[in-house]
Amino acid sequence: MVITTQQLIQWKQQGRAIVALTAWDYVIAQLLDAAGLDLILVGDSLAVVLGYNTTLPVTLDEMIHHAKAVRRGVKRALVVVDLPFLTYQESISQAMHSAGRVLKETGAQAVKLEGGHPSMVETVARLVQAGIPVMGHVGLTPQSLHQLGLRQQGKSPEASERILNEAIALEQAGVFSIVLEHIPPQLALQITQKLRIPTIGIGAGWECDGQILVTSDVLGLSEKQPLFAKVYTNLREEITKAVQNYALEVRDR
Ligand code: KIV
Ligand code: NA
Repeated sequence: MVITTQQLIQWKQQGRAIVALTAWDYVIAQLLDAAGLDLILVGDSLAVVLGYNTTLPVTLDEMIHHAKAVRRGVKRALVVVDLPFLTYQESISQAMHSAGRVLKETGAQAVKLEGGHPSMVETVARLVQAGIPVMGHVGLTPQSLHQLGLRQQGKSPEASERILNEAIALEQAGVFSIVLEHIPPQLALQITQKLRIPTIGIGAGWECDGQILVTSDVLGLSEKQPLFAKVYTNLREEITKAVQNYALEVRDR
């Protein structure tokens, strides 16, 4: 069974949690899909494996290149691709062009974009009207790093109300799901209860309809990971040991 955006909405109604992770290449995508994940995000956290410090330098061509590899490895999960910084914020036609390229060139089913201010809501509505499934992303939005930093968002009553209203507006614009990043768990719960579409949390407590993490954090491959990311294995250590063993054996002939 191939997972659709409607399936995710149905799972929310049924109270079945949605499991999501990021992938940037064929090998990892194939493993995640075979392990039964529901949603695979080709995140602009691709920055990690490209050696960028932030997501800002990632280009649309880089996203498409990696999304094609991911797509080839996935049979079942819904594949969502991030639109990178400044490939959709400029105008509706820029967003349409970028999202269109992603869907047509990679075979992914949906795009994700950051922010919930009125101009972004309008962009989302137009993409959805054109037949492009869109995932929202509010709270901490890493493409706004130089404005927001990496702090938890939505702490004050005003900020919390603004994020709730952004989520509601994005739902009305037609997003099929929304990422809630690094906001207080009570706010994530409030948004989750208010919306019909599923919320996917990252550093937003356990009350969201689903969870997502960056796979290199989960596997202990990232140089540093956010405090909210649970590390399930330490591949940096495993790889170092394996490579050192290999080096030893080669030198011992
Ligand atoms: O780029 C990414 O990996 C993301 C997730 C953390 C939601 O946007
Ligand atoms: Na992202």
